[in-house]
Amino acid sequence: MLNITITKTSAPKEKPNPEVLGFGKFFSDHMFVSEYTSGKWVNPRIVPFAPFLIHPASTVLHYGAEVFEGLKAYRTKDGGIQLFRPQENAKRMNVSCERMCLPTVPEADFMQILTEFVRLEQDWVPSLPGTSLYLRPYLFGNDEFLGVHPVDSAVFMLIGSPVGAYYAGGLSPVRIMVECDDVRAVKGGTGYTKCGGNYAASLRAGKRAIGEKCAQVLWLDGVNRKYIEEVGAMNVMFKIAGEVVTPELSGSILPGITRSSCIELLRASGIKVTERPVSFDEIIAAHGAGTLEEAFGTGTAAVISPIGEFFHLGKSYTVNGRQIGKTTQELYDMLTGLQWGRELDKFGWTYKI
Ligand code: PLP
Ligand code: COI
Repeated sequence: MLNITITKTSAPKEKPNPEVLGFGKFFSDHMFVSEYTSGKWVNPRIVPFAPFLIHPASTVLHYGAEVFEGLKAYRTKDGGIQLFRPQENAKRMNVSCERMCLPTVPEADFMQILTEFVRLEQDWVPSLPGTSLYLRPYLFGNDEFLGVHPVDSAVFMLIGSPVGAYYAGGLSPVRIMVECDDVRAVKGGTGYTKCGGNYAASLRAGKRAIGEKCAQVLWLDGVNRKYIEEVGAMNVMFKIAGEVVTPELSGSILPGITRSSCIELLRASGIKVTERPVSFDEIIAAHGAGTLEEAFGTGTAAVISPIGEFFHLGKSYTVNGRQIGKTTQELYDMLTGLQWGRELDKFGWTYKI
């Protein structure tokens, strides 16, 4: 067990209006910090949320040695608070750390930190439907040295942000741009990790997408520029002729926790789900044949996000008349039912605080 010291803020902030939370704009009163030095994590503490000093030569500022996670604390109807599969975030963060030569955090410590933090910030977990407290654990290399090297010092932090919908339009179907120039990741790279660099490298295409009135980018594989990988902040699934298909975990896409939960939920409700390579040509062909029934993204921030249109090389392909499809809606109801505790959790995915 960690001995986490707690220093409470003397100036609690006013809570934002839950109707206008958006995503990632407000922060709760405290943050968790612990440093890694001489081979161990030291001084685990929860302190008032505040900017902090960093050495100008810190590794993270020069070589991007950073990984992060994202999960939510949900207010249940009995007033309790629960997390959704948080152990999976602990495991995935350590996979990311291993790839980036950053120190890992023992799973039990990760869980204790989350639990103590959410207990302290419980009043920051909003109760309006669709809202939650987004939790952002992150870990970065922090040596004071300009050589390129695996770090000796690191910092692990956790902050909380009360959030509503990730996309401004809520559950209304989004328009997505298929990116044919830039690539996000290749096998052997860092695509399967949640490292900050993946997102930095995605921004140029993201900017082009905004220019095309698209919410995000759909990435294609880095070798053939043919096979679908994932969307900027979510995995992607298609319903074609009654079957759900989704890109397999090839090493260059993030193994989404929502993705794997959706695969299980769909299968449990009798829908065939296949993980395999899916080319964008196949999507165009299915669109032409009238068998592209639905498309949606899955992610912690994005939840289940219906895709109403793909924009590819100057052409638009609409999906289901830009309406949310039946399977997408049912999946959204099943997933959010478990997350907000409206449905009985037969899967053992929820973690009560
Ligand atoms: N893919 C990317 C690139 C993401 O940033 C995310 C969000 O975390 C996902 C997929 C979905 O992952 P998860 O369902 O674990 O949130
Ligand atoms: C999440 O869904 O938790 C994410 O990390 C997506 C994001 C980059 C905002």
